[in-house]
Amino acid sequence: MSKELMRLNIERAQHEIDSKKELVKRGKMRQKYHFMPQTGWLNDPNGLIYFRGKYHFFFQHNPYYGFWDSMHWGHAVSDDMLHWKYLPVALAPSEIYDNHLRGGCFSGSAVECGGKLFLMYTGTANEGRGFEQTQCIAYSEDGIHFEKYAGNPVLTAPEGVPENQFRDPKVWKHNDTYYMVCGASCDNKGQALLYRSADMFHWEFFNVLAESRGEWGYMWECPDFYRIRDKYVLTFSPMGAGERTAVYLVGDFDYETGKFSYHVNGEIDWGFDYYAAQSFETPDGRRVTVGWANEWDWMPFWKDWGPTYKEGWCGSFNIPREVYLLEDGTLQFRPIKEVCSLRENGSKTEALIVTPGGTQLSAGNGISFELKMKVDLIKTDADELKLELRCGAGKKTVCVLDFRNSEMSVDRNHADGWSKGISKSVMLLKGKETLDIHILSDQSSLEIFTDQYRNNHSNNIFAGDEQNEIKIYTCGGTAFIKDFEAYGLKRSM
Ligand code: FRU
Repeated sequence: MSKELMRLNIERAQHEIDSKKELVKRGKMRQKYHFMPQTGWLNDPNGLIYFRGKYHFFFQHNPYYGFWDSMHWGHAVSDDMLHWKYLPVALAPSEIYDNHLRGGCFSGSAVECGGKLFLMYTGTANEGRGFEQTQCIAYSEDGIHFEKYAGNPVLTAPEGVPENQFRDPKVWKHNDTYYMVCGASCDNKGQALLYRSADMFHWEFFNVLAESRGEWGYMWECPDFYRIRDKYVLTFSPMGAGERTAVYLVGDFDYETGKFSYHVNGEIDWGFDYYAAQSFETPDGRRVTVGWANEWDWMPFWKDWGPTYKEGWCGSFNIPREVYLLEDGTLQFRPIKEVCSLRENGSKTEALIVTPGGTQLSAGNGISFELKMKVDLIKTDADELKLELRCGAGKKTVCVLDFRNSEMSVDRNHADGWSKGISKSVMLLKGKETLDIHILSDQSSLEIFTDQYRNNHSNNIFAGDEQNEIKIYTCGGTAFIKDFEAYGLKRSM
């Protein structure tokens, strides 16, 4: 019976998607190469995996309209993480443990188990006792059609963790055991709880992997845990930690004891629109992490989700990023190398001298483009280098690299009439000879990577096509730029 209900709910969602997808395709604000939903609302990346020769991305999805509502899992496959084929909705609310209007099939992850594709997700229900979150399993033979496990839920909140603060399982296999890290709150402090299982169905608590001592909020959403070289990385999105929404910790981990001791912390992205990152391993051994390019209404800097709901959609993913460990223990997050395949009309300049008078830059159509450059910090005597992006019709987004105060900021207060705020971060320039800058601009988003991809800002801006100019200028001196590259980026979505 309940199998039948999930089938019907998927059919209903699919019908809705089919009736609206052409409208969304014609949307003026739709992304050109960032992953977005076919119709409706998208939030967290879920179940990212390379399975039987394809990249599979699942996502938190309301197929019906451009706002969050009862959660489904959308699904798409790709050969390069840029060109996507949408598949039928993978999970729809249908069971007593995941069927509620303000609940549904919440975030989770995927793993291959006995040749099948397993999903582990959070069922969110409300049977009159408040919201209850439990961990549930669904599996598939073909990687397309999923069946929920009859023994669900496989895990309920442990003592001390409120039932509405236990979610987002990220599962992986090590030797013959499955491990899972789950977001939780205990005594009003965020936690990442570690579990293990021999068969994906029976789970035992192993350890508290890490917890907030107050500095990182009251609840950790979407934790992820992975190895890079000889270190381990825990990432999570804390609730109640101010502007820090994508924290990473680097340290050592022991599978015997389940103990994680970290000695480095950082932020994947300082922009307003980077949240709930999830990672997976590509067949060539890269660790790729993907974030949701948006923000929640409970965040202190939230204004709104922008105007795309009028076009029948809302939400996209940040460009997938390869994660690397640097010698000093910090992480860099570089756009996947596949992005190069979208380049067209490139130009390269070995040296560019920038003065207060400034100059116009040209990159593709000024909307969907890529810029790369290196500031020669030895020769540069300017106090600030400024880049005005998506300018036109009296609007612009301004990126400031303030060398005197080692600060970077992206001001979107005049970007479009919707977006607000100035995202800020500190650059570590001491002793450096160059500062690298890499910009990816799409129809409704700007991603700016600097300082070896450790100081990154993702911000949505809802700029029209008439906003297609790029300017560069300095304050208080001259800036010397090396290895300047500019490209248009082709549409892939
Ligand atoms: C994070 C999150 C998750 C939850 C999901 C619901 O963005 O709040 O904790 O599972 O979104 O859509």
